[in-house]
Amino acid sequence: MSIKPTYTANPDRYAEGTMNYRQCGNSGIRLPEITLGFWWHFGGVNAYEDAKAKVLHAFDHGITCFDLANNYGPPYGSAEETFGRIFDENLRSHRHEMIVTTKAGYDMWPGPYGIGSSRKMLMTSLDESLRRMKLDYVDIFYSHRYDGFTPIEETMQALIDIVHSGKALYVGLSNYPADRLAAAAEYLTAQHVHPLIYQGRYNMLVRDVEEKHVPLLTKLGVGFTAFSPLAEGVLSDKYIADAATRQYSLRNDLRPAKTTPLLIAKLKALNEIAANRGQSLAQMATAWLLARQSTTSVIIGPRTVEHLDSSINATRNIHFTGEELIEIDRILSMQ
Ligand SMILES: NC(=O)c1ccc[n+]([C@@H]2O[C@H](COP(=O)([O-])OP(=O)(O)OC[C@H]3O[C@@H](n4cnc5c(N)ncnc54)[C@H](OP(=O)(O)O)[C@@H]3O)[C@@H](O)[C@H]2O)c1
Repeated sequence: MSIKPTYTANPDRYAEGTMNYRQCGNSGIRLPEITLGFWWHFGGVNAYEDAKAKVLHAFDHGITCFDLANNYGPPYGSAEETFGRIFDENLRSHRHEMIVTTKAGYDMWPGPYGIGSSRKMLMTSLDESLRRMKLDYVDIFYSHRYDGFTPIEETMQALIDIVHSGKALYVGLSNYPADRLAAAAEYLTAQHVHPLIYQGRYNMLVRDVEEKHVPLLTKLGVGFTAFSPLAEGVLSDKYIADAATRQYSLRNDLRPAKTTPLLIAKLKALNEIAANRGQSLAQMATAWLLARQSTTSVIIGPRTVEHLDSSINATRNIHFTGEELIEIDRILSMQ
């Protein structure tokens, strides 16, 4: 009979210089500069051992925050199942060291209650998520998006009731227009459940949140976590190669049509700055987000342990000179 090896966490995972933690808005929670995201690469179609290697490697390097959603996979729900198995077999004794998040709002199951931000959707989806993840509670439960039709009051009251039920410790919001975000924060705060964090798409190529969301969050004392820091892999060196030899990701947003000659020229120019900093383009893209104090954490989507290590190492150099920042802005605004 073979004895299953058990996981022992790295005793130095919180040692100085391993991972930095930032205060999340004006809350008492500190989040790691790097959060591990489960959107892709952790589903039922992926090898369990690969997913496990990344999760345990992350935890061993001080990554305490794990970002999930009901429909991450594919298939939907399977990333939560993968997490649940890894957690149950390896990390259960470390539950108090972990921030686990999930979300509901996009399509999840058939019928009118399997999508959107209604009370019915949020409450039933969270119960299903907890079952898949083998957890009693999540740390942050996100409304994944403003759906355009559910009244803000209904969605926010459901989140408040979820916190009062003990199934989530904190409330998060994601993909809300700035005015809906302000209304949601006002409702939550009036009911004494301060929103902990906002999650928005933010990278060198997509900077919309800079204009309204980030200043609003700073004013409200709400943390900000950036997703898709590499624009789903575009901000990496694989797209710089000649078109003939370029490897396109299987991920839907990275079709050849998106990689225009102008984009490739920008990536090449950015890559030169990164090289002068001793970083890969992917590392510089992550560091650029962390150079802003308004960024609480960057949610990464590593396909491999090497990707994960590279992103962790990006946190070692997040200082940019004024000249570098000006040159990056010039490149990004090239027409
Ligand atoms: N709230 C929301 O609506 C929302 C939306 C999207 C994402 N998210 C969260 O944010 C997380 C990250 O999003 P994302 O997956 O789009 O992130 P991303 O980092 O922009 O893209 C990940 C892709 O970049 C490539 N990559 C990752 N690390 C790399 C590295 N160090 N060097 C070179 N290439 C690297 C890989 O592409 P290849 O596979 O092609 O190699 C990988 O699939 C998600 O897992 C999820 O938790 C939230």
